[in-house]
Amino acid sequence: MDLRSTIRWSRPILPAPTMPPATESIAITEVGPRDGLQNESAIIPTPLKVAFINLLSECGFPEIEVSSFVSRKWIPQLGDASEVFAQIKRRPGVIYSALVPNIQGMEAALKANVGKISLFTAASETFSQKNTNASIAQTLERFKPVIALAKSPQKSGTGVSPVHSRDARATVSLPVRAYISCAVACPYEGPTDPRKVREVASQLLDLGVDEIDLADTIGVAVPADIEKLYAALDGLLEPWHTTLHLHDTRGTALACATRAHQLGVRRFDSSAAGLGGCPYAPGAAGNVATEAIVWSFQKMGVQTGVDSSKLATAVRFIATALDRPLPGPMANVQV
Ligand code: HMG
Ligand code: MG
Repeated sequence: MDLRSTIRWSRPILPAPTMPPATESIAITEVGPRDGLQNESAIIPTPLKVAFINLLSECGFPEIEVSSFVSRKWIPQLGDASEVFAQIKRRPGVIYSALVPNIQGMEAALKANVGKISLFTAASETFSQKNTNASIAQTLERFKPVIALAKSPQKSGTGVSPVHSRDARATVSLPVRAYISCAVACPYEGPTDPRKVREVASQLLDLGVDEIDLADTIGVAVPADIEKLYAALDGLLEPWHTTLHLHDTRGTALACATRAHQLGVRRFDSSAAGLGGCPYAPGAAGNVATEAIVWSFQKMGVQTGVDSSKLATAVRFIATALDRPLPGPMANVQV
């Protein structure tokens, strides 16, 4: 195994052993408030977002991706990120994270007391340009000062969530996730060469990120694509050191998650009610529904730590609030 896997993950966010963790549990990051609500045609009122996140906080997720500190001109739907962070009720033990594209976003994220940041780049040049007005190399350049700031000691109470430290005077550093969009295919360029994903992942590891999140942005993957993706990462990154972010445009996301789990992946993103999509990925549907991933993994004897009945409450809440048919299997069911 490449030593880098061990070194980079010496201070992991979630357990990152050198051998695959037991198959009996996975960790789910609920991304509905961010990936989901960024793609709604209407701008959702702040109190409604806060109520949705507060319900999700009760469900048992280790992490909730709350919002994005991006340009309001690009994503007006999440222009209230600071207000949302200020108003949510934070449950101890839950990481409240946000997307950050550049130093301007990072400064706002620190002021909002985020628990973790998620950078985002791509394995496709065209998608990178459309989504961030920057080449892949330019996004990586933008990340350097952001990561430096995240890794420079922050005094508790002056930005970084105190959940990272029991000692109010202690210094903490902020965990950094990095998404690689179009890890399987690009809406503009077609199929992605998995070697490109490996190249970008390697560059991100060199920058010092803590977590690589591989995204099937347009939801075209089948299990064989997941096998090719992880084969391409062999020797660079173990499957259990990655997170998988699956959109479900063609109904194959759950099959991909199951195959990924067999390969050793233990961390997944999903959205309550199957919300989601990227305004710069035309035609892409929402993320794999959280209720589907929780139900199927739990039935397979894999613990998710998520309380299904509390999740159903959150799903029904957002389905009622958005008042349109949602893709998740529980969105329209009264149980
Ligand atoms: P730009 O226009 O090239 O940036 O955008 P700029 O530096 O020239 O600034 C232009 C304006 O934006 C300025 O304001 C800046 O102040 C402002 P003006 O002077 O015109 O009034 N600005 C900001 N405002 C707030 N927060 C900031 C910020 N930065 C600049 N951080 C930029 C570059 C990256 C900002 C823009 O392209 C952007 O915000 N893109 C975000 C797009 C996005 O959020 N996409 C969806 C999320 S990614 C996704 O969904 C995929 C994922 O789910 C994984 C997957 O499924 O693939 C994660
Ligand atoms: Mg996404």
